[in-house]
Amino acid sequence: MKEVIKIEGGHRLNGNIKISGAKNATVALIPAAVLGTKTVHLSGIPDISDVDALREILEYLDNEVLTPMKDEIIINPEHMVNKPLVIDAVGELRASYYFMGALLGKYHNVIIKMPGGCDLGPRPIDLHLKGFEALGANIEYRNDNYYLKAEHLHGADIYLNIASVGATINIILAAVLAEGRTTIENAAKEPEIIDVANLLNKMGARIKGAGTSTITIDGVEVLEGCNHEVIPDRIEAGTFIILASAMADHVKVQNVIPAHIEALLSKLKECGVNFKAGIDYVEVFKSEDLRAIDIKTGTYPSFATDLQSPLTALLTQAKGNSTVFETIYKDRFKHCYELNKMGANIIVNNPSSTIVGPTPLHGAEVSATDLRAGACMAIAALIADGVTTIDEVHHIDRGYDNFDKKLSSLGAKIWREMIE
Ligand code: EPU
Repeated sequence: MKEVIKIEGGHRLNGNIKISGAKNATVALIPAAVLGTKTVHLSGIPDISDVDALREILEYLDNEVLTPMKDEIIINPEHMVNKPLVIDAVGELRASYYFMGALLGKYHNVIIKMPGGCDLGPRPIDLHLKGFEALGANIEYRNDNYYLKAEHLHGADIYLNIASVGATINIILAAVLAEGRTTIENAAKEPEIIDVANLLNKMGARIKGAGTSTITIDGVEVLEGCNHEVIPDRIEAGTFIILASAMADHVKVQNVIPAHIEALLSKLKECGVNFKAGIDYVEVFKSEDLRAIDIKTGTYPSFATDLQSPLTALLTQAKGNSTVFETIYKDRFKHCYELNKMGANIIVNNPSSTIVGPTPLHGAEVSATDLRAGACMAIAALIADGVTTIDEVHHIDRGYDNFDKKLSSLGAKIWREMIE
């Protein structure tokens, strides 16, 4: 038996929706919280299975973890014990690798197995490891586990060949308690990095330049606790704005920082979507006669790779040939083959795809091949005539907080079934 999501398409959407805290910030904030000696109280935590896996890792390491409210987590690392992170939870998500930086920074010693996460083609972590080595760590890889050890962690000048989100955060985590100054050049500039730096600075770290391509970290001896609210999830916001662009009469997406999704909003405007951006919301009105557009993904503030798959579903309804050029994950096109099962006409030529539109979509049996592909399939299903069955829904549950409930509240016909 397996769980599937079923969506009956063709229903117009109306209402308000509140965006949750950012997954990709939360999954770094939680490991960051154990770097101190006192309690960290995080609010705005999304209800997703990636957070459940991180909570399991925290408890395995003997942290005290409380959740007074559904969207809060209180982490007390006072009695934390450094143990080999070879439990299954580590393999359930990519971001478990932030415990490499955090435990290296705190204990100078880490044993951890390979992280999991979406299959988007090769996802090496060489830049993380080079960063740790520059800070003084010795690294070995044996029997599917990484062994990191440092006699002494010291500041270093680190240049990243690629502005990697994960490497930037992991190096910050390892450097905050190291002796002396660390400089990261060509650092990634994503808002989630600023959020992690803000948390650590509240805990007593000395990080400057987060959000720019040069970050400096002056090591401190000890970090304390603090309260922190996670920033809104720009990818969840983008997903709901895209699906509203396809099917809304009037949908207001709240708890959004429009500046974080500027690249998406300017592309939707070009496409002919009828919307209005306010201070912390985006309102989408009925949009017709959509036009084909060209997208090139890139590091922030360019168009986010995580939004290209959801957007592809919308572009099947735009007139003309749209192209998506992927520069981050060159193989991230599995969703296109699934969309073609629903009647789309997409030609994939890695690292790009051409969407020939508009094409009517019909219900079919499709797969959520990764988290954002899952959102793409749901959007296509909302547009399609008939019922679509989406398989591999655990990917959606990894990163979208109460996805079905939020869609239902807008008037979508969505339900789950267990099937053979
Ligand atoms: N890269 C390397 N070596 C490294 C690290 C990265 O070659 O050591 C390459 C990657 O293969 C990729 C590029 O650099 O081609 C960018 O990777 P990055 O490290 O920036 O991505 P990430 O940290 O693994 C995060 C998000 C992804 C999001 C990317 C890009 C988290 C947990 N994940 O991944 O989110 O697509 O940044 O913005 O923050 C998602 O949420 O669905 C998701 C996949």
